[in-house]
Amino acid sequence: MQVGSPSHALIPPFTSLSLSPTSATMLHASLSSLHCSSASPSPSPPRLSSPSLYPSSPSSARPTCLRSRHVLSFSVPAKTHLRAKSKSMGLKVNCLAGEPLKVMISGAPASGKGTQCELIVKKFGLVHISTGDLLRAEVSAGTEIGNKAKEFMNAGKLVPDEIVTAMVTARLSLPDAQEKGWLLDGYPRSYAQAQSLEERKIRPDIYIVLEVPDEILIDRCVGRRLDPLTGKIYHIKNFPPETEEIKARLVTRPDDTEEKVKSRLEIYKQNAQAILSTYLSVMNKIDGNRPKDVVFGEVDSLLSRVQKDKAKTTKLGNPVSGISLPSNQATKKEGKWRGIPTRLNNIPHSREIRTYFYDDVLQATQRAIYDGKTRLKVEINIPELNPEMDVYRIGTLTELVRVIALSFADDGKRVKVCVQGSMGEGALAGMPLQLAGTRKILEFMDWGDDGALGTFIQIGSIGAKEVDEQDDIFILVAPQNAVGNCIIDDLRGMTESAGMRPVILINPRLKDLPGSSGIMQTMGRDKRLEYAASFENCYFFRLLYYAGTQYPIMGALRMSYPYPYQLYKRVDQPSRKEEYILLSTFDGRPSIDEVNDAFLGKPRNQVKNTSGIWGFLSSILQ
Ligand code: AP5
Repeated sequence: MQVGSPSHALIPPFTSLSLSPTSATMLHASLSSLHCSSASPSPSPPRLSSPSLYPSSPSSARPTCLRSRHVLSFSVPAKTHLRAKSKSMGLKVNCLAGEPLKVMISGAPASGKGTQCELIVKKFGLVHISTGDLLRAEVSAGTEIGNKAKEFMNAGKLVPDEIVTAMVTARLSLPDAQEKGWLLDGYPRSYAQAQSLEERKIRPDIYIVLEVPDEILIDRCVGRRLDPLTGKIYHIKNFPPETEEIKARLVTRPDDTEEKVKSRLEIYKQNAQAILSTYLSVMNKIDGNRPKDVVFGEVDSLLSRVQKDKAKTTKLGNPVSGISLPSNQATKKEGKWRGIPTRLNNIPHSREIRTYFYDDVLQATQRAIYDGKTRLKVEINIPELNPEMDVYRIGTLTELVRVIALSFADDGKRVKVCVQGSMGEGALAGMPLQLAGTRKILEFMDWGDDGALGTFIQIGSIGAKEVDEQDDIFILVAPQNAVGNCIIDDLRGMTESAGMRPVILINPRLKDLPGSSGIMQTMGRDKRLEYAASFENCYFFRLLYYAGTQYPIMGALRMSYPYPYQLYKRVDQPSRKEEYILLSTFDGRPSIDEVNDAFLGKPRNQVKNTSGIWGFLSSILQ
């Protein structure tokens, strides 16, 4: 990792880590005062080091350990085991120049994380950080952390966040992880842990989830055996040991009984969904119920693609996304924001209002992309951009797209602006009304005197084939389903081909529509919805109206990345003036009840009643 890159810069509290006995003592002192509840929030991590976690010299790394398990009688492998291992075995380690890979692997107990990690490490040379291994090593070494962790592990419960988070963040900050990239296995395992990483801006390039049916998992755990000498994972049926000698020394993990596995599985399921929401945009689910080499084949091709994309974007400049933030936004402050403009019910919108929103959307989008976000959506519903209103203007939509595209082109990026083509076949072929003629308008509009169109800006369609090697960023204009036809398959193909390159959806409409033929597309409904949800809002603006009317305006809901959702109330002022007053803020998009309550002045978390006078909001906030 390049020094000064965002993710590097965001770990400063740990970069000065000392491995001295003093700092180790500090950690142990702070941990001993922990209140041991796994649900408690993570405190700001202490400066820490534990001699058993972080060797003082490379020589202390165990060359033979691939994934050291609980039975190790030596201290853990903090230095990656890889270099020695891969050299001695003559294994290939990818060494593309560029930003190192950052990978998270997740899945239920025994889904094969450790098994896949061994293979990933051999091929990609990442530093493997397994919280299970780190904890087992602490237990083996009989340290204070180990003694605290043991009771939780043996009961199949999660070890308190404080202990694990401190261990992981400290380990991630060590130079080897930053130089070679990392493979985080078994962390985060709760929403609080995921948030601890988010707060430190530690984010993976890819989040792999191994999916295996429950009954298989139990069999895998109960049959698992570990070689205490090499750390290699076996299974009495699936992967029996190679020799009688190895067989004789194999051991079973204390938490691998059927009863404990069920408890671990339950805990995994309780937490999985909350964690997924944090990583949806980089998540890839893989069927882990296949031979391990087949599973690895898929993992390998995913990681290779991400690595290739990273190499490309690193070459382009910014190590995260290839997009640099204009200097006027370097502080990421919304200080210049002037509040919501008034007269939004005057149609057509004045040039000033349009410019205001273009600028607002642009800043939010730039901030998100600078932060390494790659799957983004802008949802802006001022009257001229709301296709459900008579005053909808395609010119406003294309102007907004032009502002965003030109801004990235000015930054030296090659932008592809994409409008979906006609859908359906024969007499049923057509495209959503909202998009009719859009591509032509884009092709004929004024893209400035610098010849940006055709060089830095290309106009394309939506689909995997539209992704060219030279494209850096994709802006998709109002991708949407049509009756009987679904854009999501094409969209998914395109995002898969785009890999780590940013894809921004402007006013997408990806909800299901009734199908004339009864078949919308090949993908199942759950998968479609999950895919649609994988795009993160970097901008959201919606006017709120009183029931049954479009005027007067009641208020507005706005979110500009990375700030919270803001709920405003519109208030009439003397002399026919108006003002938007901030009522409340929300970390995520507020529910209808939350919006209703804020307008009614009710405190948060009160018993909800959607049938109240504000119940009409339900239709607009879904
Ligand atoms: P940890 O060690 O991480 O356990 P786990 O998540 O339950 O996962 P496992 O190690 O059991 O399984 P795996 O997915 O690695 O599968 P493996 O490759 O070994 O954590 C242990 C404990 O530590 C936790 O319960 C908790 O107490 C604590 N802890 C850890 N992280 C924490 C955190 N972040 N916060 C709080 N507490 C934390 O494979 C399993 C078996 O299947 C093997 O026998 C293998 O040979 C076989 N197998 C693998 N792949 C295949 C395949 N494709 N086909 C057939 N068999 C296969």
